[in-house]
Amino acid sequence: MGSQGTNGGGEGAVSRREFIGSATLTVAGVATGLSYYFSRPSRHDYSEFLKPESQVRLAYIGVGNRGGSLLRSSLQAPGCFPVAVADIREAQRKEFVDKIKKESQTPLEETYQPADYADYRRVLDRKDVEAVVIATPHYLHAPMAMDALEAGKHVYCEKAMAYTIKENQDLARLVRAKGDLVFQVGHQRRYSLLYQRVKELIQAGAIGEVAAIRAQWNQNQVERRPCPDPVLEKIINWRLYSEFSGGLTTEFASHQVDVANWMVGTHPDSVCGYGGVDWYQDGRDTADNVHILFDYKVPIPGSKGENGGPRYRHVKLAYTSMMQNAHLGPSELILGTRGTLEACLSGGAELFKEKVALEEEAAQLAAKAGKPGGAKKALRAGATIAPSCLKRPKGELVEVPEDKRHWVKFTKPLEGAYDTGETFLAVGAFLDTIRAKRAGSDVTEMLKASVTVGLEGAVPCLMANIAMRENRTVHWSEFFPEETASAGGTDAAGEPKRGG
Ligand SMILES: NC(=O)c1ccc[n+]([C@@H]2O[C@H](COP(=O)([O-])OP(=O)(O)OC[C@H]3O[C@@H](n4cnc5c(N)ncnc54)[C@H](O)[C@@H]3O)[C@@H](O)[C@H]2O)c1
Repeated sequence: MGSQGTNGGGEGAVSRREFIGSATLTVAGVATGLSYYFSRPSRHDYSEFLKPESQVRLAYIGVGNRGGSLLRSSLQAPGCFPVAVADIREAQRKEFVDKIKKESQTPLEETYQPADYADYRRVLDRKDVEAVVIATPHYLHAPMAMDALEAGKHVYCEKAMAYTIKENQDLARLVRAKGDLVFQVGHQRRYSLLYQRVKELIQAGAIGEVAAIRAQWNQNQVERRPCPDPVLEKIINWRLYSEFSGGLTTEFASHQVDVANWMVGTHPDSVCGYGGVDWYQDGRDTADNVHILFDYKVPIPGSKGENGGPRYRHVKLAYTSMMQNAHLGPSELILGTRGTLEACLSGGAELFKEKVALEEEAAQLAAKAGKPGGAKKALRAGATIAPSCLKRPKGELVEVPEDKRHWVKFTKPLEGAYDTGETFLAVGAFLDTIRAKRAGSDVTEMLKASVTVGLEGAVPCLMANIAMRENRTVHWSEFFPEETASAGGTDAAGEPKRGG
């Protein structure tokens, strides 16, 4: 990300600030309904959340890296009653039961002691467990989530939603059948105020029509975890083996495909790409670099095709994830006809306007000020004009109001590292959605990372894996011949057979 959003002095710069400012107001308006975390006083009366109707009794299945983050984030959410953890590794279970005892906001000793189980089904047997957070390796998501739904539990399921296309379809069908249960997927960007702002800017026309998206998740590391005992290799390094994981696509691209889906308002129509184990021949069979093109058919607003339906424009997401060079890290670049938005979960977002948009703004300002020829002057005064091919134009940071991001002000801070805001917002929203569901409210708006979002984030990544393996273009229609048909019967041809 570049500099703080000053475009030099001049009238053009004033107008750009005004534009961002007006967007700020709009988003602030939207955000007021988001959550009580930001509107309640900093010293909240926790007794409110001890009332039975506010409590949510949670269990955590898989408390490794991500499960641990989700657990610690949820411990700070008022009304979270963490009653159990399940993990096949004893050390993980003990560590997180201890954390619950030390860090929970709820007075455990007066109510219960958290339990731990090696077998997740024992958690599902417990009548008092109302909801589960599933953060196990990818291949376990669907079986565990489906068992949990069948046991009547609300589910927070990590991304990528399910390990095969067929499992994504089956899971989606089950979630839709269990209309009284909340099912949220771990696409926490949907709860990020920053990404919500980016979406709002796009909707407000800040970058014109989206013409293409580029995204990458690059790092310079082998992505192999230290393993003390070879017996544990596939438990610890499950990401490296296709019998357990979709690899870089489901681990990384799924987040960014989700962002692209959200920004253009649909899912990819077809996918092609290349990838391979080109660098780290250490026994892994998931690619260490992937270069993928996702093609979206985006309806052109207000257009009519020959059959009376909308006409579509093809918009491509060009995606790379490589483990040999970290330049650019993880971010998304959304390129529109009037500007570009660059977003990164940990690094903010920046808006770069196209020359054509700046010229129009400058001309409008000059006309308003009654200064003939003033447009040229304003453009000269602004710094963002006609970059050379090597020099990026200056952008403006997309601002998110400080008081809304610094959620930790409103809860008891944990010692040591804790998660950034959007994970807290996502788990907090999960609890809110459960409460709203219990109260009989319509939760469609609250449930931002729904099963449909999960399916549309996961399936294109699995299509990409097929495309790379079979060296062909893979089409959404192969798996969803009729989007709205009774579904499920589609044979997921070309998919890997599940491993363990
Ligand atoms: N949303 C995000 O930003 C984000 C970030 C990281 C990981 N993830 C996702 O979270 C999931 C977990 O990733 P991770 O990095 O925490 O992996 P991890 O290996 O660190 O943790 C997985 C845990 O599951 C446990 N486990 C394995 N098999 C089990 C079983 N049968 N029953 C119970 N527990 C079992 C393991 O012992 C381990 O503790 C993955 O799906 C990953 O894609 C999401």
